[in-house]
Amino acid sequence: MAARPRVLISAYTFPEVLEAARVHFEVDDNQAREVLSPEALARRLAPKEGVLVTGTDRIGEPVLAHCPGLRAVCCSAVGYNNIDVEACTRRGILVTNTPGLLDETTADLGFALLLAAARRLGEAERFLRAGRWTQWHNDLLLGADVHGATLGIVGMGRIGRAVARRARGFGMKVLYHNRHRAEARVEAELEATHQPLEQLLAQSDFVCLCLPYTLAVHHLIGARQLALMKPSAVLVNIARGGIIDENALVQALRSGRIAAAGLDVFEGEPAINPDLLTLDNAVLVPHIGSATRATRLAMGRCALENLIAALAGQRPPNLVNPQALARRAGPPD
Ligand code: 8YV
Repeated sequence: MAARPRVLISAYTFPEVLEAARVHFEVDDNQAREVLSPEALARRLAPKEGVLVTGTDRIGEPVLAHCPGLRAVCCSAVGYNNIDVEACTRRGILVTNTPGLLDETTADLGFALLLAAARRLGEAERFLRAGRWTQWHNDLLLGADVHGATLGIVGMGRIGRAVARRARGFGMKVLYHNRHRAEARVEAELEATHQPLEQLLAQSDFVCLCLPYTLAVHHLIGARQLALMKPSAVLVNIARGGIIDENALVQALRSGRIAAAGLDVFEGEPAINPDLLTLDNAVLVPHIGSATRATRLAMGRCALENLIAALAGQRPPNLVNPQALARRAGPPD
């Protein structure tokens, strides 16, 4: 029997995924829930043909240079900005992601953050747990109404659309901004109106960021954009931390330039800007957008299916760099 391909599963995965992987591969796993340092990742990946990574593993030149036999990098996430796709393509390494499986789950979390920030849930809970609720007042912890408000969605892909569907249930008016305007059918279905970013920011009571991260959108929301928003506005980020200039956001939240923020993602995560931690009007959660067992299991299975196909010489279902197919037998530049 031919030797099974050697693969690395870089982070904790569910036993079902691990067992299924062992049927096909010689697996080096990392069930200890300790993120591998770049050096450890390079060392353990060096002799492997494939890897199943999460969004926290950086796969770029420094790692790839150690991995002459690597043929597939399969990411258990929809966003793959942690992977240098061009460098992989040059080496004929296939890169895959897990689109379509986490849209509803992530939109749920987006709405949870929106509601929590609007109704000051984090602050209210801290207040109660600290034993500070000794009297009820008419104006105790007043928040903002979500129903009937205007929601601006930046990035109208699958997740943005799932957020828009929820907004309809709350009777919200939906504006959106996207590089490419959605088809008329989609706009009609979601009752969503396309707007330039500046106008969306100026008109929205809630702004939800749902766009993929690329260098082109680094600090898309900075001091200038925050200044366009209503003082009563709430900003929600379920995309990637780097889309917001966090120092500018801290200033805006501190000075009351905007009312509140709900953040699932951070520029230097898992490190958090210490100023954010001091702000009562920021609801902060540790990148849990897709964190339900069902969704994370589906993502793990999907990433594994992609790895199996890639190492069997087939086209994986969620290939993000088809250009690599032509090069995969060839040597790196
Ligand atoms: C992942 C995410 O769980 O899919 C994404 O892009 O941000 C999350 O769903 C996270 O990246 C870890 O892989």
